[in-house]
Amino acid sequence: MKRFANCTNHPIILVMAAILTLSGCSGLAVPAPTEKTESPAAAPEQTKQESVKPGEKGKPTAQEPAASGEPAPSVEVKPDTAKQTEAQPPKKPPAKASADTEELLAGIEVVAEPESMAVLVNKQRKLPENYTPTDLVFPNVPYLLPEKSEKRKMRKEAAAALEALFAAAKADGIALAGVSAYRSHTYQKALFHRYVQKDGIEKARTYSAVPGTSEHETGLAIDVAGLDGKCAATSCFANTKEAKWLAEHATTYGFIIRYPEGKEAITGYMYEPWHLRYVGPEIAKKIGEQGITLEEYWGVVPVSADAQR
Ligand code: DAL
Ligand code: ZN
Repeated sequence: MKRFANCTNHPIILVMAAILTLSGCSGLAVPAPTEKTESPAAAPEQTKQESVKPGEKGKPTAQEPAASGEPAPSVEVKPDTAKQTEAQPPKKPPAKASADTEELLAGIEVVAEPESMAVLVNKQRKLPENYTPTDLVFPNVPYLLPEKSEKRKMRKEAAAALEALFAAAKADGIALAGVSAYRSHTYQKALFHRYVQKDGIEKARTYSAVPGTSEHETGLAIDVAGLDGKCAATSCFANTKEAKWLAEHATTYGFIIRYPEGKEAITGYMYEPWHLRYVGPEIAKKIGEQGITLEEYWGVVPVSADAQR
C-alpha cells in the first residue's frame, strides 16, 4: 500500500483541506481519486510486554482489542487560506451519529488519572466525563492558527517542552509550526461527527478519535507541521524534513510520535507523523529506544479489530 503518494494541488482539494485543517487538523479526510484501501485483515503486531510498576501514574488496565484501517487521504494545505477559515462554529452532531458514539464509549474503561503526563487514552480508555485540564497555557511557538485560538493551548509542562523542541529544531534549520493542540470535548465531538458524516464511522475512526478518547482533549498532544504549512496534518508530511527531524529528536524533549507507521493494529489509528504526544523525557526515551507505542510501553494488548464494533 502506498501511503504518501496522493498529495495534490487541485484547487478544490486545497480549499477543502484548508477548511478542515484549521478547524480541526485531525487526519484530514478529503478523498483523493486514487486512494487505496489498506487491508483491515492485517494481523495485530505482537506487543512487547514491559512490566509496569504498581501505582505508577497513568497505568492502564483495559485489555480489549480494535481495528487498524486505511490511511486518511493526502491533501495539501495553504496556511494563508487556512488562517482565515479557522473560526467555524461546530455544527450540532446528528442524533444517529451521537447514538453510535455513545454505544462505542459505553463498554470502555474510564482512565483513573487523566492528569498524569503518561496517561494512556485510546479506543479502549476514555477520559472521565467533563474532564478539562486545569493548567492549559499558550506555548510560545509559531502556529498555523489565529492568535487567540484555544486550540493552541497545551498543559504547562508540555507547553514548556514544546518550546524547547521548537527552539532545537530552529537551531537545526527546521522551522516548525503548531497546527492543532488542545481540543475541548465539545470541539472534538463536532469534528468527529463531521468526519463521520463525510466518511462513515468505520473509516472516520481510523484517523479521528471518538470524543472522550482523543489525546487532544488531554492537552498533551499537538499536531505539528512545517512553518510553510505544506502537507500539514496529511500523509505527505511523512516525507518532509520536518517529519524526519521530529522522528529523530522529539523524544529528547519528552514527545513521542504517538501513531507510528506499522503500528496501526496496536494504536488503532493510521500513521500520523505529525501527532506528537507529550509523555515526559524518561518515558519518551524508553519508547524511542525500543521503537514501541504507548500501548506497548504500558503492556496492554493491541487495539484490534474487535474493539471497533
Ligand atoms: N487524530 C487523532 C487520533 C485524534 O483525533 O485524536
Ligand atoms: Zn493529532
